Amino acid sequence: MAQTGHHDRGKKFLILANEPFYKDHWIKIDQDRLDRYDRMFQWNPASLSLYEPADIRPGHVVADFGCGPGHTAIEIAKWVGPGGHVHALDINSEFVTQSRKNANAAGVGDRVTAHQCDGSILPLPDESLDRLTTRNTIIYVDDPERTIREFRRVLRASGRVHAIEGDWPMMVIEPVRRRTCFCHSIERAIGAFKMHCNNAIKEQIASNRSNHRSME
Ligand SMILES: C[S@@+](CC[C@H](N)C(=O)[O-])C[C@H]1O[C@@H](n2cnc3c(N)ncnc32)[C@H](O)[C@@H]1O
Repeated sequence: MAQTGHHDRGKKFLILANEPFYKDHWIKIDQDRLDRYDRMFQWNPASLSLYEPADIRPGHVVADFGCGPGHTAIEIAKWVGPGGHVHALDINSEFVTQSRKNANAAGVGDRVTAHQCDGSILPLPDESLDRLTTRNTIIYVDDPERTIREFRRVLRASGRVHAIEGDWPMMVIEPVRRRTCFCHSIERAIGAFKMHCNNAIKEQIASNRSNHRSME
C-alpha cells in the first residue's frame, strides 16, 4: 500500500497512494447505513451560519460536491429559487438516486440535477457555476489537487468555492486498522491547499510582472 516516501525536516512520511478504504467506504453502503445517513445528513438550520459566507443568491447556479442524500442541495435549491439551479454530485449511486427522490419530494426536483462523480472530473462545463459548496468531502477524494483544479475549471470568474471540512475525527475513528491514516489525511489535504495557494500566488506574480512590463 505504501508506495512512495519523501523526507520532510529529516522525518520520513509515508504517502499512502491509492488508499482504497475511503472510496470503498462511500461506494458500498448497505441499506441500513443508507437509512442512517438519510437521517444524519438532514438539513439542520444550525448549519446556516456555515453557509452564509458562500453568499448564495437567487438565480445562482451552484454545485454541492459530496451531496449525500441531497438535503443540503435541496436547501440550496430553495435559496437559488426558480431562476437558479443546483447540481448535486456524489460518488455513491444510491445517494444520487436518493437526491433526485428527495428533491422531487421537496418540490424542487426541476431545479436539482444529481450526477455521480468521484471528483477526478466534474460532469459540468467550464465556467458554468456561480458557487460550489462541499462539506466533509474533499478529505475523501483520491487527488485533492486535481479535484480543486476541477472546481476552478467549472467556476465562473466571479465564482466562489465554499469548502467546509470538519470530519477529521472520523479519520481517526474509522480506519482503525491504519494508524498513519489520520496524519496522512490531514497532510494531503493541507498539502493540496498549499499547492493550490502557491500556484495562485505564482500566477498573480506572473500577471503583476506582465502588467508592470506593459506599463514600461
Ligand atoms: C461525510 S459525507 C458528507 C455529506 C454532506 N456533504 C453533508 O455534509 O451532509 C461525505 C459525502 O461525500 C461523498 N464522497 C466521498 N468520496 C467522494 C468522492 N471521491 N467524490 C464525490 N463524493 C464523495 C460520500 O458519498 C458522502 O455523501
